[in-house]
Amino acid sequence: MRLLLFLVSQMAIFALFFHLYEHSSPFRKEEPKPVHVLVLSSWRSGSSFVGQLFGQHPDVFYLMEPAWHVWMTFTESTAWGLHMAVRDLLRSVFLCDMSVFDAYMKPGPRKQSSLFQWEQSRALCSPPACDFFPRGEITFQAHCKILCNKQPFNLVEKACRSYSHVVLKEVRFFNLRPLYPLLIDPSLNLHIVHLVRDPRAVFRSREHTTAELMIDSHIVMGQNLKNLKKEDHPYYTMQIICKSQLDIYRAIQSLPKALQQRYFLIRYEDLVRAPLAETSRMYEYVGLKFLPHLQNWVHNITQGKGMGEHAFHTNARNALNVSQAWRWSLPYEKVSRLQEVCGDTMDVLGYLQVRSKQEQSNLSLDLLSTWKPSERVYQSEEGSVPTWS
Ligand SMILES: *[C@@H]1O[C@H](CO)[C@@H](O)[C@H](O)[C@H]1NC(C)=O
Ligand SMILES: *[C@@H]1O[C@H](CO)[C@@H](O)[C@H](O)[C@H]1NC(C)=O
Ligand SMILES: *[C@@H]1O[C@H](CO)[C@@H](O)[C@H](O)[C@H]1NC(C)=O
Repeated sequence: MRLLLFLVSQMAIFALFFHLYEHSSPFRKEEPKPVHVLVLSSWRSGSSFVGQLFGQHPDVFYLMEPAWHVWMTFTESTAWGLHMAVRDLLRSVFLCDMSVFDAYMKPGPRKQSSLFQWEQSRALCSPPACDFFPRGEITFQAHCKILCNKQPFNLVEKACRSYSHVVLKEVRFFNLRPLYPLLIDPSLNLHIVHLVRDPRAVFRSREHTTAELMIDSHIVMGQNLKNLKKEDHPYYTMQIICKSQLDIYRAIQSLPKALQQRYFLIRYEDLVRAPLAETSRMYEYVGLKFLPHLQNWVHNITQGKGMGEHAFHTNARNALNVSQAWRWSLPYEKVSRLQEVCGDTMDVLGYLQVRSKQEQSNLSLDLLSTWKPSERVYQSEEGSVPTWS
């Protein structure tokens, strides 16, 4: 009898282990976790373009600015006041839990087209979200917007769960603090791609999109809005943006080495000068293959002619020319004033300042440092001002 009990119990234990072995992790090679990529940037810094570079990849579920919904729900708040709500929304979306949008969208049945700029996501234009475009092909927003805008909202979640990479683009973080918990969250595998751009080019581009950016700019300026003269608004906004980009960069340097490896800095100018090489670096960092059709496409869109028609479209254009446009279209007085408020950030990121109108318009003078900030070693000695070598 005892022997029988013993045998039965052994069998039960064996069955239990077998079950564990079959169905859960400790005894099995770990399933590759989805990779979560946050493209962290600011307005008019080429982040739609970088978002497209990720979004067109057949392994990527991409959303552009999901936290737009948070900001548009609380337009009287401040960027800092909304940081945590933005952070928590990102975490849910990374985990493909789209119920988080209930807080920011009208109740009742909704379509995937309720999402801000949904058609920028190839994943929402191909199966399982929409059957009109194959997963492995470049999709065009204009076509997708017409053909896939009736799809129900629950397909967003279904689509998200079918990808190995979830990539979100956000311009609504002004320091790294709200993101610390996500960096160490065991349910996430977060990688940050920090995209920066020459503040003078950003400034010029913002001048052309002032109306589109109005609500956002007011949230950025927050309480100070009422104390500022109207003509100072663009400089004050840029000051906040420049400082926040620098704060993010510096905060990373003080993190443990293991966490620093979850951060990748890219300058928009480096990207447009060597689109294939830089895209390849970026893909490699997050574990994506640079497939031949994508190489072809990247080549096409960066060599195309024209300056791009609408503020939020990434059309074929001469990207290099666009990145230099401020040099002949922005008056030196503005450049000079901007360099005062953004000088520190420019020095650290390798954007050389101009000291005269002549220097500004002399295009044989390269204003991009030959070194890349990512190649520099950050040294911070106790009690001393941080320096870069
Ligand atoms: C790139 O451009 C060429 C020539 O216009 C075109 O034939 C090709 O289909 C394009 N490829 C992609 C992936 O857009
Ligand atoms: C860049 O754009 C400017 C202004 O549109 C134009 O005058 C110039 O010829 C362009 N340069 C190149 C190399 O395309
Ligand atoms: C433009 O810059 C180049 C490189 O520094 C310099 O050699 C050249 O003299 C400059 N031209 C003018 C007109 O200032």
